[in-house]
Amino acid sequence: MITLGIETSCDETALCLLQTEGNKYNVFGNIVHSQIDIHRGFGGVVPMLAKREHIKNLPILYKKIIEESKIKENDIDRIAVTYGPGLEPALWTGILFAKELSEKIHKPIYPINHMEGHIVSVMIDNQFGELKKVDFPALAILISGGHTEIVNARELGKYEILGTTLDDALGEAFDKVARMLQLPYPGGPEISRLAERAREENIKNEIRLPRPMIHSKDLNFSFSGLKTSVLYTLRDMGEINQDQIKDLCREFEDSVTEVLMIKTKQALENQEYRSLVVGGGVIANKHIRKMFENLANQYSIPLYLPIPEITGDNALMIALAGALNTTKPSVEGLVAIGNLSLRN
Ligand code: KG4
Ligand code: ZN
Repeated sequence: MITLGIETSCDETALCLLQTEGNKYNVFGNIVHSQIDIHRGFGGVVPMLAKREHIKNLPILYKKIIEESKIKENDIDRIAVTYGPGLEPALWTGILFAKELSEKIHKPIYPINHMEGHIVSVMIDNQFGELKKVDFPALAILISGGHTEIVNARELGKYEILGTTLDDALGEAFDKVARMLQLPYPGGPEISRLAERAREENIKNEIRLPRPMIHSKDLNFSFSGLKTSVLYTLRDMGEINQDQIKDLCREFEDSVTEVLMIKTKQALENQEYRSLVVGGGVIANKHIRKMFENLANQYSIPLYLPIPEITGDNALMIALAGALNTTKPSVEGLVAIGNLSLRN
């Protein structure tokens, strides 16, 4: 079976052609066209610009993926498209593209929740091979630019959100702190790079930041106070040199990592899980990956992380969710839902 995946929830226009037979898979084509250069000057994603770019790029990328993968359009068996959460004007471009194609080739559309895409992204680790078998119930930690969620994944398609952020998402906090330090957008990779330098160069840790919500009994997060602490720290310091910037980045990364670990432990101790899954753009972060690996060892729980190539937004994870039947096909009622959440 061949699934075309379409992802346009934010600033990546992405298409994927994925073949699956049982638990075997083969990625025929996987294109991610980033619009970062267009949005960078604005310090964040501008929805209307994203929409314009998706509309322009989708037909071009589709032609390219069909030509390069040497698959005939009519060989596509299903179309999987992200319908939320994300920027509604951007989501609509993918949905309308899917609907037009579906009419043309008479194949069904599977509407996919972007966050579910991040969950299944951990099942792939090569261009082809066997899907990794994740045992359920799994504890899924989703950390991206728009979301921070702790999820009880009872099985594929059955989710209960146990905790979420009360304000900023984790990736958003990275991006906002980076902006305070005048680092380019997106800030996550920049902060992570400087934090790593602080560790490598053994720069003394002189800046201290709080670890928000670690004493709350629930599984929720809050990062806006931490962001404000960074702002006050910068204001109080006045002039700041390169080493202090690296120290601040490391302290920020340590703070959010510690909070993540504490909440994950709490969730693991509350309930029995057979695996731990971490997905979303922030899991590109090497330090956070390492800490999750340590934690999984400590709790003797199998850990599943996406390979670095697909931590960020992509259509491979959307195609895979479609291929795995996590939802039912739908065309008539298919609309973009900006604040779509994972549900049972
Ligand atoms: O999942 P994603 O690509 O898009 C959304 O669905 O939001 O996540 C993007 C987020 C951005 O906030 C970006 O700064 C963050 O992931 N990110 C990182 C790293 N790489 C990307 N955050 C921390 N460390 C990184 N290495
Ligand atoms: Zn994402």
